[in-house]
Amino acid sequence: MTDGVDLTDLDMWARGVPYAEFARLRREAPVAWFDEAPPNSGFWSVHCYEGIITASRDVATFSSARGISFEEPTDEDMAARRTIIDTDPPEHTKLRKIVSGAFSVRAIAVYQHFVEGLTEQVLDAALTGAVLAGDAFDFVDRVAKEVPIRVLARIMGLPEADLDSFIDLGDRLIANTDPDITDVVWGRDDTDAYRLFPFRSPYGKQLWDLGREVVAGRLRDPGDDLLSRLLRAEVDGDRLSEVDLDNFFSILVIAGNETTRIAIAQGILAFCEHPAQWERLRADSGLLDSATDEVIRWSCPTHFMRRTATVDTDFGGALLRAGDKVVLWYVSGNRDEAEFTDPDVFDIGRTPNQHLSFGRGGPHLCLGAHLARLEVRIVLEALARRVAGFELAGQPRRIRSNFTNGLRTLPVRVVPH
Ligand code: HEM
Repeated sequence: MTDGVDLTDLDMWARGVPYAEFARLRREAPVAWFDEAPPNSGFWSVHCYEGIITASRDVATFSSARGISFEEPTDEDMAARRTIIDTDPPEHTKLRKIVSGAFSVRAIAVYQHFVEGLTEQVLDAALTGAVLAGDAFDFVDRVAKEVPIRVLARIMGLPEADLDSFIDLGDRLIANTDPDITDVVWGRDDTDAYRLFPFRSPYGKQLWDLGREVVAGRLRDPGDDLLSRLLRAEVDGDRLSEVDLDNFFSILVIAGNETTRIAIAQGILAFCEHPAQWERLRADSGLLDSATDEVIRWSCPTHFMRRTATVDTDFGGALLRAGDKVVLWYVSGNRDEAEFTDPDVFDIGRTPNQHLSFGRGGPHLCLGAHLARLEVRIVLEALARRVAGFELAGQPRRIRSNFTNGLRTLPVRVVPH
């Protein structure tokens, strides 16, 4: 047990990421046990870069099949809502084969022109005359929220008319611990009635229902989008079951939307706080690739993924028991002095930058990493061309969650040329 910080205190996370506490934990307790309030049973907490990579790699000892959040679902819960991210090999290998081709560097490069055009449209609408003259606006609402969902809509063939519902449902699921965003709050309310749905939420059921409507449309009228390909896909002679389809649909919509939005919004917040880095980027477009990865390291949209120990094991001196939860804090590993020079410096020229924001070392490495990078890079490039600088126009509002680094609002003003 460690003194001082309670990493499950969501009000603390709503105020900010506890970077100083993580720095202390990396020094004093790189792997430590934390108690939790019942019904949860506590967890091992991994704070150091090397430990996170080791656990990600060793899927036989550190399983994903019992869930990837703090929640402790039953076998029945898991069977109903297991997505690719909650599987171990060989099941994982099989599911991943179905979708990996659609997310390769080559497959994603096809969307470059589309993402560029979309970004220009979003910025034309957001950067009105008044905004360019210095009026404050909410960057999350006007820019960060708009791009990722529209890219997914294109890739998956989602109907335009449903996009606001997808955004809204995704928000209520990812932020299922924030009472300002959802009325069914995990950890506060009795969610037993919803335990078979994603995120133990009634909105998970609504997302499935919406997904089924879209799937039914695609079955009637197949195209070349990802969803049509999933419907046709066969691996080892099997087609995806209805449950697999529901869950694939929800993970793609959730994992592909919120995370990229967070990276874009937190990136602009970083540039508000480090204006010299924005000037550097504007002066040298050769920095776009390294700036993209630095924004993703710095913003760390997904703070952690959890594993479960399958056997008793000695992990860097910590004695793990089979069944123990093991939380891999990417947000701490991304600031580990043993891996990064000056980790608390936002440096858009940083190379190498082997950050953990997409996971690293294991088979679950983010499927959408190339797509996310493409989106972040194109948004940065377009903004750097148009905007001399950003400054905060108010206090950003964070989502009350220890899972994502989400911003509800980011009030900014652009600096006139
Ligand atoms: C900046 C944006 C993103 C971040 C930070 C992010 C982060 C992550 C992380 C941390 C994991 C788990 C890695 C592990 O357990 O080792 C993951 C997995 C995944 N991500 Fe992303 N993601 C992003 C964007 C996307 C996009 C755009 C998509 C799809 C459209 C996507 C789809 C997935 C899927 C399907 C998985 C599960 C992969 C598996 O289990 O094999 N992500 N992502």
